[in-house]
Amino acid sequence: MSRKSKSSRISGFHKLTLSERRERLREACGLEAKDLAALEGGLPPEEADHLIENVVGTFALPLGVATNFRVGGHDYLVPMAVEEPSVVAAASHAAKIIRAQGGFSAEADPPEMIAQIQLCEVADADAAAASIAAARADILADADRAQPGLLARGGGARDLSVRPLGDRMLAVHLAIDCRDAMGANLCNTIAEAVADKLARLARGRVGLRILSNLADRRRVRVRCRITTGALAFEKFDGAEVAAGIAAATRFAELDPYRAATHNKGILNGVDAVAVATGNDWRQVEAGAHAYAAASGRYAPLSSWRVEGPDLVGALEMPLALGIVGGALRTHACARLCLRILGVESAQELARVAGAAGLATNFAALRALATEGIQRGHMELHARSVARSEPERAHKILSGLGGYR
Ligand code: MEV
Repeated sequence: MSRKSKSSRISGFHKLTLSERRERLREACGLEAKDLAALEGGLPPEEADHLIENVVGTFALPLGVATNFRVGGHDYLVPMAVEEPSVVAAASHAAKIIRAQGGFSAEADPPEMIAQIQLCEVADADAAAASIAAARADILADADRAQPGLLARGGGARDLSVRPLGDRMLAVHLAIDCRDAMGANLCNTIAEAVADKLARLARGRVGLRILSNLADRRRVRVRCRITTGALAFEKFDGAEVAAGIAAATRFAELDPYRAATHNKGILNGVDAVAVATGNDWRQVEAGAHAYAAASGRYAPLSSWRVEGPDLVGALEMPLALGIVGGALRTHACARLCLRILGVESAQELARVAGAAGLATNFAALRALATEGIQRGHMELHARSVARSEPERAHKILSGLGGYR
């Protein structure tokens, strides 16, 4: 079975028991029964002991699979590791509505990260910038020599720029195509390898040598289009729902307090995929928020506009995700999640994670613009309470709204 031949539509997936869900997932992804062992956590403490320091155990999170995703014409079952009720249900429900309208379209930039070298005590910034620019080919070649494996995989140094920062300080940026890696280690090695030559050229002193987490050369753009008629539900008229979602975008554009919460709704989806696939979610967050503030005013990463008969959603954000290296070396569950997704490149993973972000954003705004967020949240909360305190769960369920 081709990695992409599976359908992400598994009707009633949420109603199955846990073991039935695992079986359906196994069938849908062409996995063997033994592969599912990784769903028990995938990180034995002995392995964790090699990953970080002072290990005393491992820390578990629920792993769900969001259904219904169609991105760029391909179906994806999307693993999400997250502790918050509603997020997986919201993503699946949003993806179902959007799938019926053709799904998400998405594009990801080449996987270029920025390695930064700080140069201090530079007396003449203009002369330093000119010397470094003149040695550009040489420095890019040095960078490539520092990571021959990356070069062999088709990556390597792509660009060099010098940014005078004032205070006798320069930042030199090397753009490194990291291919399928997130690339932090690649960039840091390269930054250290070229720093001395840069300092000599600038007649300055080497400062920090580290990647930038504002990965603005590695952005993902996701869009979807929904006819407003498809937004009608219960007593809510589709055009009103669309107008409410568009007004929610405007709120976030006008108010950083709202923009932060709007973006949190996007990161609910993006981070859950990042965690499930063994990626560093703190750098995803750092890049997202720095990019959101790049204009000098913190802004929403997505917008929803009414265009004629349609509601159009668009997300743009930096997204540096890898499908090789990092925690994937030791984390069997993260490796299984990548198999479930069936992605073949870091760019493809970014497209799907971005779609998950636009999906959770849509679901949140649809609920907020209509019946409010609490019904769906509390229904799911009640489900978990019901196991230990059935009476309290009954009370929670009387009188609620929704986020699905
Ligand atoms: C909750 O995790 C996320 C929301 O607050 C997002 C939003 O307000 O758009 C519901």
